[in-house]
Amino acid sequence: MSNPSADYNGPERVFSGVQPTGALHLGNYLGALKKFVALQESHDCIFCVVDLHAITIPQDPKTLADNTRKITAAFLAAGLDPKRAILFVQSAVKAHSELAWIFNCSARMGWLERMTQFKDKAGKDKERASVGLFDYPVLQAADILAYKATHVPVGEDQKQHLELSRDIAERFNRDYNAPRFFPLPEPLIKGPGARIMSLKDGTKKMSKSDASDLSRINLEDDADTIARKIKKARTDPEPIPHSPGELKGRDGAANLVGIYAALAEVSDQDVLDEYAGQGFGIFKSALTELLVQAITPIGEELTRVNADPAHIDAVLKDGAERANAIAAPIIDEVRQTIGFWGA
Ligand code: AMP
Ligand code: TRP
Repeated sequence: MSNPSADYNGPERVFSGVQPTGALHLGNYLGALKKFVALQESHDCIFCVVDLHAITIPQDPKTLADNTRKITAAFLAAGLDPKRAILFVQSAVKAHSELAWIFNCSARMGWLERMTQFKDKAGKDKERASVGLFDYPVLQAADILAYKATHVPVGEDQKQHLELSRDIAERFNRDYNAPRFFPLPEPLIKGPGARIMSLKDGTKKMSKSDASDLSRINLEDDADTIARKIKKARTDPEPIPHSPGELKGRDGAANLVGIYAALAEVSDQDVLDEYAGQGFGIFKSALTELLVQAITPIGEELTRVNADPAHIDAVLKDGAERANAIAAPIIDEVRQTIGFWGA
């Protein structure tokens, strides 16, 4: 991977986060987890369950604690190795909150006002949204830069937040006359799977919060459930086309072709070469088979890992210590750079 900012010369480091707000789905897997698992082979990786982000909207304490363990279990079940990658919970490492405050003073209101995720989540009643929801992307920048992470694997929906992280890093470096202090983190978004859409509506992204369970494949779904959901997935009466250009305007069809390509690790064109001219029947059976192969072993592993909360807690405790050991000296440097007493 290329160096994220030509003149930053620190080590390459990967960071990403997932919110503990419900069961993970195929979009999370293809957009994030699958990439995490590949990256742990080549890079120093830090993966975080972002509970501070979760409380930007109200959470029930017991459910938050359960979901935090569940996301950790999903990290493990998907194949992350806690000896290699650091797996931990955001609120267990104080650097995140401290750096977020400092970055609040570098970020500009105008930058945050442009964030589409805030507009979507706050909806019409912006006045009643929490200040935390507005500030969400600043905390995200702090997550990444507390480790001077250089590369951030995420789905397409996080692109704008990553651009903001780069703006904040650049602004801090300039404001404190500390050139090259923070890297400008590079998003790793490309590739099939970056934007998986709802199975019911190919214009909406697959999401944990969609009211219809038929809109998504959950990592916990068994083979029959997957088969049923794919059978019901929205397509159209036209046959499968010969070129990706012809999928324009056929959102449901394009989504299924994209999912197939991401799972088989081939291009959309390769998928079309195999199925062009046919209806969706045979294609949907083949897609179901691929999904069952990829997803059900993770679901089974999830059940096994979830049954051992003491193991999950041990992983998180060790992860928090290792994460803190990286972040604490960086925060000390930040304190010195700003001129805080005692630093
Ligand atoms: P979240 O569950 O919102 O914390 O998202 C966790 C990760 O999954 C982030 O990197 C998201 O960009 C990614 N992600 C969420 N939904 C999708 C989707 N429908 N397609 C691809 N990636 C997604
Ligand atoms: N905002 C991300 C999401 O909703 C989660 C997240 C929080 C994150 N902090 C991060 C992702 C840092 C990458 C890096 O999906």
